[in-house]
Amino acid sequence: MNRLLSQVDPDVAEILDAELGRQQHTLILIASENYASKAVLQTQGCIMTNKYAEGYPGKRYYNGCEFMDRVESLAIERAKQLFGVEHVNVQPHAGSPSNAAAYFALLDPGDTILAMRLDHGGHLTHGLKQNFSGISYRFAFYGVERDTEQFDLSRAAAIARKHKPRLIIVGGSAYPRQIDFAPWREIADEVGAYLMADIAHIVGLIAGQVHPDPAPYCDVITTTTQKTLRGPRGGIVMCREQFAAQIDKAVFPGLQGGQMMHTIAAKAVCFKEAMEPNFRSYQAQIVRNAQVLADTLLRNDFRLVSGGTDNHLMLVDLDSKNITGHDAANVLEKAGITANKNVIPFDSRPPTITSGIRLGTPALTTRGMKEDEMRFVGEMISQVIHAPHDLQVRERIRQQVKELCEHFPIYEDLDLWS
Ligand SMILES: Cc1ncc(COP(=O)(O)O)c(C=O)c1O
Repeated sequence: MNRLLSQVDPDVAEILDAELGRQQHTLILIASENYASKAVLQTQGCIMTNKYAEGYPGKRYYNGCEFMDRVESLAIERAKQLFGVEHVNVQPHAGSPSNAAAYFALLDPGDTILAMRLDHGGHLTHGLKQNFSGISYRFAFYGVERDTEQFDLSRAAAIARKHKPRLIIVGGSAYPRQIDFAPWREIADEVGAYLMADIAHIVGLIAGQVHPDPAPYCDVITTTTQKTLRGPRGGIVMCREQFAAQIDKAVFPGLQGGQMMHTIAAKAVCFKEAMEPNFRSYQAQIVRNAQVLADTLLRNDFRLVSGGTDNHLMLVDLDSKNITGHDAANVLEKAGITANKNVIPFDSRPPTITSGIRLGTPALTTRGMKEDEMRFVGEMISQVIHAPHDLQVRERIRQQVKELCEHFPIYEDLDLWS
């Protein structure tokens, strides 16, 4: 346990310690989660949290920003190099404000946005009625086809022609297939729309060059930094130079005040890590692991949305298994496996219950697990879901999970705050 914190605040120290244990001793298959490096964690907990630096490098509203300018400029330059883009704003506090900034910069309230249906894999900020996006803008949606469970470009183009959006968003939270951005550019050009990629999930795969690149085709690209990119919790917006001033104005002073300089410093660290050669092999392994996990589940008689995966995640349809996504995620958690319930396309159940679970491999791959472990994990998931009430099975799997975690330790000697 952390010595300093345990003296100052034993309650929080105890909670942090318990959470560390959970992250170390369970299998995390939540597709949007990962283990940030100790360097990223340390930077995110650093002294830059003390500093106000409203504005941008060289144009601050506060004095004493010499080192804020240096670290923010470094983060910007690294992100530009990593993603091959003309302009980057590294200030958004998270993925959702990154999307808000993009809309705010390019659109007027009430304008039409075309995005992927939420229940087909989109995101809250892509038009949920209760979200700022759905409240402030008019949304039209494209979805996946019933037979392929993948989106069909000619149908999306027809919807775009009908609704004439000012902005088209490509990307989502639960789409298990690669996205080719080139044809979306053609659709956007045909209807006179801006094209935005929300790569919050696939950003690491793109940086690792194992997924098609949106940069040549999109006007704006938004992302989180905490998921496959394995950085701190945060967001960035990338764009063509022609939109740079609008994007910067939308982030500050449009949406945010003082930025989180400690997080911006940690973003700089994660961009450096993502430029190392082993980051590419890490991303390739994430995809291979997802494919092996998917194959193992298919062999165990599970149905996967769209038949499999070619990125870091898969959606398991539990409809034929007599268990809801809600119950499956809970019983898996009891066996030491953390996943999340997720609606599947054309789900008959509401988002609080769901007929599916979403599984992703970024976190297990960070622990060093490879194909053999994915086969084992797939078998364990299958056994738990096929016998959800069998306490003996659950206990046996729990023990196997514990042993697997011990073979692939994470955050050993973590005592960042003492
Ligand atoms: C596609 C997509 N966009 C945006 C976000 C929002 O990111 P955050 O949770 O950091 O606000 C997410 C997060 O799940 C996402 O999956």
